[in-house]
Amino acid sequence: MSDTAITVYDYFDESTWKRIKAFSDTHETPFLVVDLATIDRQYDEMSRHFPYARTYYAVKANPAPQVLTLLRDKGACFDIASTYELDKVLALGVTPDRISFGNTIKKAKDIRTFYQKGVRMFATDSEADLRNIAKAAPGARVYTRILTEGTLTADWPLSRKFGCESDMAMDLLILARDLGLDPYGVSFHVGSQQREIGAWDAALGKVKVIFNRLWEEDRIKLKMINMGGGFPANYLQRTNELSIYAEEIARFLHEDFLDDMPEIIIEPGRSMISNAGVLVSEVVLISRKSRTALHRWIYTDVGKFTGLIETLDESIKYPIYTEKNGEFENAIIAGPTCDSADIMYENYKYGLPLNLATGDRLYWLSTGAYTTTYSSVEFNGFPPLKDYYI
Ligand SMILES: Cc1ncc(COP(=O)(O)O)c(C=O)c1O
Repeated sequence: MSDTAITVYDYFDESTWKRIKAFSDTHETPFLVVDLATIDRQYDEMSRHFPYARTYYAVKANPAPQVLTLLRDKGACFDIASTYELDKVLALGVTPDRISFGNTIKKAKDIRTFYQKGVRMFATDSEADLRNIAKAAPGARVYTRILTEGTLTADWPLSRKFGCESDMAMDLLILARDLGLDPYGVSFHVGSQQREIGAWDAALGKVKVIFNRLWEEDRIKLKMINMGGGFPANYLQRTNELSIYAEEIARFLHEDFLDDMPEIIIEPGRSMISNAGVLVSEVVLISRKSRTALHRWIYTDVGKFTGLIETLDESIKYPIYTEKNGEFENAIIAGPTCDSADIMYENYKYGLPLNLATGDRLYWLSTGAYTTTYSSVEFNGFPPLKDYYI
C-alpha cells in the first residue's frame, strides 16, 4: 500500500521537473508531456550499459515523430510491428537496413510490403508464417522467437502468445534454410517490466542449446541473439538499476558464449521512454459511497480509455504525485467515463491527501510509454489523449 507521498525528485532531477512543471502549468488537462532530453539521456545510458548490442527501439512504446527523429539521429535501429509503423519510420528517412519486422503475427501481403520497401529481417515463431516469409521475402534473414519463463515476475508479461518451444524453433530454422532463407538467429522477450533478472539467464540458456545443436547436427551457424525488451522503467514498485541488469546479462552472455559472441540486439521500449513522460490530470470528483465508508473514490479526467490501459489488473502501478500535503487516506482511483471497467486502482490502495479537492492536479509519472497509442478515439466522447514533446 502506498500511504505516503511520493517524492518527485526520486523520479526527476530538479531542472527536468521544473521544465515539465512550467510547461504543464500553462496547459489544460488531461495531456501527456514528454521530456525529450530524458529520452536522449536514457538512450545514452542504454548504449553505455550494452556497448556490444545494437538497439532496435520498439516503436510501439511511443511512435511520436519527435521521439523517432531523436532516436534516428542518435543512430538507433527500429523494431516495427505493422506497415503503418513502417511507413512512419521510413518517412523520417530511416533506411530499411535499420528496421526489423518483429511481429510474429502478420499477413503475407504485409511481409511483401516490408520486403518491397527494403526490409530484410523478420521474426517468426510458426511454420505458416515462415512459409509466407519464404514466398514474399525470398532470401531474407529470419530469427525465431522462443517462449520464455518469467510471466510471474514481469509486470506486463508477453510470453504464451508469442514464441515457440525450442524444438520447434530449431525445426523452423532448418526449414528456413531449406526454403532459401537466411536462418539468422533467435529472439526472446522475457516480459515487459521484468523484475527478475534471472529470466534472461534462463532464456539465454535455451538460446545456447539451439545455437549448439544447430551447428553440431545441421551445420547451421546462427549469427544473432535478439534479447528483446523487458528492461525496467521507474514505477511505484522499484526495480534494480539498469546497471545491475546490464552487469548480470553481460555475465550470462559471457558464460554461455565466451569468445564466440554472436551479434546482440536489444529492443527497449518501456525503459527508453516511460521515465520521460508525465500524464497531467485533474480531479473531477471525490466521493464516498456511504457516510461511514473508509475509502474515498477519486475520479480523474484520465482513465483506462485515455492512456492508462496498463492499469488493467492493476499491473503497472504508476507513481502519482500531487502538490497537496497533509494526512493521507486510502483512495480508489477511477476514470471519467460511464464504464465500470474504468477503474485504475481499487485493490491496491493509493494513499492520497485528505485535503485533495476537485480541480487539483494529479501527475502520473513514468507514463511516456504505452499511453498515447492506447488512448481510445472518443470513448464516451472523450477525445484521444493530447501529447506534447518538450
Ligand atoms: C517484439 C518486441 N520487442 C520489444 C518490445 C518492447 O518491450 P519493452 O517495452 O518491455 O521494452 C515489445 C513489447 O511489446 C515487443 O513486442
